[in-house]
Amino acid sequence: MMSTRILHISDLHFGPPFVPEVAEVLLQTIPTLDLDAIVVSGDLTQRAKRHQFEEARQFFDRMPNLPMLVIPGNHDVALWRIYERFFKPHDLYREIISDNLNPILKVGNVILVGLDSTAPRRSISNGRIHRNQLRLCEKAFASVPEDMVRIVVAHHHFAPGHDRVFDVAMPQARRAIDCFVEQKVEMILGGHLHRSYIGSSLDFFPGHHRDRGVIITQCGTTTSSRGKGRERDENTFNLIEAGSQALTVTHYLYFEEKHKFEPISKHMFPRSGRPFDTDTSATTPPVANK
Ligand SMILES: [Fe+2]
Repeated sequence: MMSTRILHISDLHFGPPFVPEVAEVLLQTIPTLDLDAIVVSGDLTQRAKRHQFEEARQFFDRMPNLPMLVIPGNHDVALWRIYERFFKPHDLYREIISDNLNPILKVGNVILVGLDSTAPRRSISNGRIHRNQLRLCEKAFASVPEDMVRIVVAHHHFAPGHDRVFDVAMPQARRAIDCFVEQKVEMILGGHLHRSYIGSSLDFFPGHHRDRGVIITQCGTTTSSRGKGRERDENTFNLIEAGSQALTVTHYLYFEEKHKFEPISKHMFPRSGRPFDTDTSATTPPVANK
């Protein structure tokens, strides 16, 4: 059965919080995952400095040559360099990482639309998605066959923090979620919270789309010391498997004593209108306990 395997990493934070040992283990792990693509959901750097972007670039260049989708996070915009922040917020990102802030990637049976959710002039911490970005999604998703898996990638979270650590969602998140449901988006990949959450938009917005929400897959910080909540001081990533019948997210945690990332939970969601097929156990290794 055809399935597309996507690595989802986030919040690398090249700069003081970056943990090189964990990053090296990640590089060793990537070739073992049999991947089709890699997604990086923002915050490549800690302070949007040239050398931090260059280090991130060198890190990506050491990864296997796979299709990649990368978007900026709020830390990739200069916070204190005010002129830069207001008049050329993404210049270094564009020069060193990618000129496209809203990239689209088609791989296997999946289409991913990356959205730049940074709002350098306004809500730097909570981010924002603009109407023209929702239209970009609509156009991209309308151009592919009905049965392709539609995924949106954005750095900021569309739902408030799921735990008791305070975090509000981006303004007008609900408007975006409603659009995504109408566009038949099946999953959102995000970062920013520095802790993982794998669940459904219906946990937060049980509104008029109660029969069909969007799967929310938040990634913790993959290579920095800034993990929060349950993932304080921890490093995580997600492996997405997009099959014809189901979407599976395997949540990996870094075990310091073993120098290894290992899966700690696995979440399977039948695709809309499809029967639940549980026979995918052979595709990922067994889950470890901490
Ligand atoms: Fe971050």
